[in-house]
Amino acid sequence: MSIKTILWTAVGLAVVGTAGLCAFAHQSEIAAVSRPDPGSFDKALVERGRVLANFGDCTACHTRPDGQAFAGNFALKTPFGTIYTTNLTPDTETGIGTWSKEAFRRAMKDGVDRKGNHLYPAFPYDHFTKVKEADVDAIYAYLMTQPPVKEATKANEFPFPLNIRATLSVWKALFLDKTPIATDPSKDAQWNDGKYLVEGLGHCGACHTPRNFMGAETKPTYGGGFAEGWFAPPLNKDNLSQMPWTQNELVTYLMDGWHPKHGMAAGPMTPVVDALQKQNEIDVYAIGAYVATLRNGEKAIDEAAARTAALKLDWGHPDAPPVPKDFAEGAKIFQARCAQCHHSTAGVGSGTVPLALQTSLHAPVPDTAAHVIWSGIKPPTGALGRSMPPLGQQMTEAEMVAVVKFLRARYTNKPAWSGVEKAVKEARQASPIAP
Ligand code: HEC
Ligand code: HEC
Ligand code: HEC
Repeated sequence: MSIKTILWTAVGLAVVGTAGLCAFAHQSEIAAVSRPDPGSFDKALVERGRVLANFGDCTACHTRPDGQAFAGNFALKTPFGTIYTTNLTPDTETGIGTWSKEAFRRAMKDGVDRKGNHLYPAFPYDHFTKVKEADVDAIYAYLMTQPPVKEATKANEFPFPLNIRATLSVWKALFLDKTPIATDPSKDAQWNDGKYLVEGLGHCGACHTPRNFMGAETKPTYGGGFAEGWFAPPLNKDNLSQMPWTQNELVTYLMDGWHPKHGMAAGPMTPVVDALQKQNEIDVYAIGAYVATLRNGEKAIDEAAARTAALKLDWGHPDAPPVPKDFAEGAKIFQARCAQCHHSTAGVGSGTVPLALQTSLHAPVPDTAAHVIWSGIKPPTGALGRSMPPLGQQMTEAEMVAVVKFLRARYTNKPAWSGVEKAVKEARQASPIAP
């Protein structure tokens, strides 16, 4: 049985078997209010809300490309179908202009809209439920002071029975954990602040933790997951990084989107960086402190030896190994399309991070490599001046498949990827520039 079939069957059974529960699935409506006067909110509270909303990536998800901020309709692709984000501006018809503070709190804590409908967990309320009420209220104040934009949200594209919101009451009963984040007295304040941001508003686990067949986060926490078809690598002890990370390096990567040892943040990680680079460094240091400890128990890496070995694999290095016959076609394409940036000059590298040190090539799936070649890497704000052009339109699918297989064989000692053809096809479908 395919995962999808299992999912459908499970959800179907859950619906039928828990008809009683579903009868209670609809929550009560919270009365509409007239739009709060933006001037009635305390300025300091609004400013705090702006900072907190930024940690929650609300803008990134609730703004479509070329759309107005917070007006929604960003098409979020999930394994179950496409869902459109809602209009969070205080427009009274299409946004949340008639939502009271209580209605907004309920959405963030319980994933229920003002009218009482269950919301899909593509809205990461499984993390936002951990956010303190005072912080939720600050975000409410900030959103209510934004300019209202009239933009109706498009209908979601979910197949039956997933299109029935009542089924989500079953999902919540099984998976929604509302336990507040406990302070760990054995750790310092910085670490605890970081934990609150990462587990709550930052919702890092929404991408970096694997999900089960019903789309809920599952063990191992931070063991690696997927985001819009990209692989979000593990951040725990089983991470795939070829270089160790320190707290400071995490801060640089998270704020600049680039680190000379680790490379650039690409794909769905780019908006996370764009949000974090606007934040107060003290808060990002707190995130770094917590994230660094997620790696406790990892294998020690001899950094100098790893770097030397990686450089030797770089294209054009005098000691580089010969290309095996099976990968000659991929190597030829690499030489033509990629080597100008990914090469070694006199054995010291070309200024790009050696490909052998790129986590994405050590990932269990070829998805990120395929996406990067198709769509390139846009520089996050702090990494201006570095970028990789989208090469999809200049290459055939067969060429891309050959080069992806070559990358894996040349730059890692891990087994060949399966499903490269599928990954390349999907990367093409997802690419905003695909013909
Ligand atoms: C990963 C993408 C993502 C992020 C990040 C995100 N949201 Fe959403 N949000 C969604 C989606 C998708 C929906 C629609 C859910 C549905 O239709 O069931 C939604 C719905 C909502 C709703 C319900 C609105 C309505 O009219 O029903 C509120 C309120 C909301 N989000 C607030 C926020 C806030 C505040 C933040 C930042 C702290 C945020 N969201 C961050 C994806 C996101
Ligand atoms: C929307 C999905 C998403 C969210 C949310 C997200 N990440 Fe990521 N992250 C990714 C993806 C995808 C990559 C891989 C990027 C690449 O290959 O260049 C990544 C890469 C990383 C890396 C590099 C890991 C490595 O081994 O190279 C770190 C560190 C990281 N993220 C930390 C975080 C932290 C901390 C947060 C929360 C503040 C976070 N991420 C939130 C998707 C996400
Ligand atoms: C114009 C320069 C340029 C060209 C051409 C180029 N790249 Fe890149 N590539 C970069 C830069 C810059 C990075 C980010 C890493 C860094 O800063 O060193 C990168 C990163 C990557 C990554 C790691 C992505 C990640 O975030 O996980 C892969 C894989 C990659 N390139 C493969 C290729 C392949 C394959 C080709 C040819 C089809 C290619 N590149 C062509 C500049 C380029």
